[in-house]
Amino acid sequence: MNNYFQYIYKISYCLVLTVLLASCKHNEEKYHSVTDKINAESKNYHGTSISSKKYIEDLKTVEINESGHTFLIPDRKSKIESYACTDCHTKPLAKMQSKEFKKAHWNIELKHADSLTMNCLTCHNGQDMNHLKSLTAESIDFNNSYKLCSQCHQKQYKDWLGGAHGKRIRSWAPPRISMTCVNCHNPHSPSLESRWPARFNTQKIKERK
Ligand code: HEC
Ligand code: HEC
Ligand code: HEC
Ligand code: HEC
Repeated sequence: MNNYFQYIYKISYCLVLTVLLASCKHNEEKYHSVTDKINAESKNYHGTSISSKKYIEDLKTVEINESGHTFLIPDRKSKIESYACTDCHTKPLAKMQSKEFKKAHWNIELKHADSLTMNCLTCHNGQDMNHLKSLTAESIDFNNSYKLCSQCHQKQYKDWLGGAHGKRIRSWAPPRISMTCVNCHNPHSPSLESRWPARFNTQKIKERK
């Protein structure tokens, strides 16, 4: 009796193996080479099959299109507490810097470039505080403040466009959302301090679910 079961078992094992081998063989014939297979199976990789749309629905974003790179960045205007600036900046700045007005923005200290290179009005527009200002006095939307930075930091800017500097958020699947410069660098004090790790790697703590 025992032998009989072993016999059945062996036969079915062989059958499964043949079927498996046959199907492998079949797939191998479908493509002439590994390169063909990769090309064929990755055809629809961008766009159709996977998307991160449902993971980003709750985020307010703006689409940007620069030198052939199109992607989303988080909205800033809804995050800046003192926006809209025109709540107070009802007159040109020169007229507001008088005894009539108390000194404002005492909490902002400029620690960026030296005072020969930069002051508040290098980036802000005394005539139109709701917009930033380029070095050639063009108006820049607060959501597009990366344009401001790109004037002087081309290297990091180009790396950022390509995705090498900065951080992509939510998902690797398209559409792409990347943090913008001011999400990480305070424009008034952009340098990031180097720091020690919060703890040494001596404890085993479960950090990921
Ligand atoms: C609560 C009122 C208030 C709001 C809101 C406000 N400001 Fe001002 N700001 C002032 C006053 C008053 C002055 C003039 C006195 C001074 O220079 O400190 C001023 C001055 C400034 C100056 C010149 C500072 C200097 O030292 O030369 C800049 C730049 C500026 N504001 C930018 C902004 C921007 C950008 C926003 C919006 C994101 C904004 N402010 C929103 C009240 C305000
Ligand atoms: C290098 C360019 C640059 C310079 C110089 C600069 N700012 Fe700004 N400032 C920005 C950008 C960009 C933002 C928007 C940041 C964001 O999106 O959070 C901003 C935001 C602000 C805001 C609103 C946010 C807040 O922190 O309340 C105020 C007010 C402001 N700046 C005032 C000033 C004053 C006053 C000076 C001079 C002491 C100054 N800025 C110098 C680029 C600059
Ligand atoms: C007008 C030119 C100019 C603009 C506009 C400008 N920067 Fe700068 N930035 C400088 C200069 C000059 C320095 C000082 C470089 C140094 O110390 O080596 C600097 C320093 C920095 C640093 C520190 C670099 C370091 O080595 O620690 C960072 C980060 C930075 N900027 C980010 C930004 C961001 C983000 C923006 C846009 C909000 C911006 N900058 C806009 C000129 C500019
Ligand atoms: C996800 C966060 C993040 C974003 C977004 C980001 N940076 Fe940085 N940036 C960093 C970090 C981290 C460093 C490295 C600091 C260090 O090495 O001490 C850095 C360094 C820099 C430096 C100093 C020079 C260097 O390479 O060490 C400059 C200038 C700079 N960034 C500009 C920018 C500009 C301009 C943008 C937008 C186009 C930008 N950054 C976007 C995080 C960011």
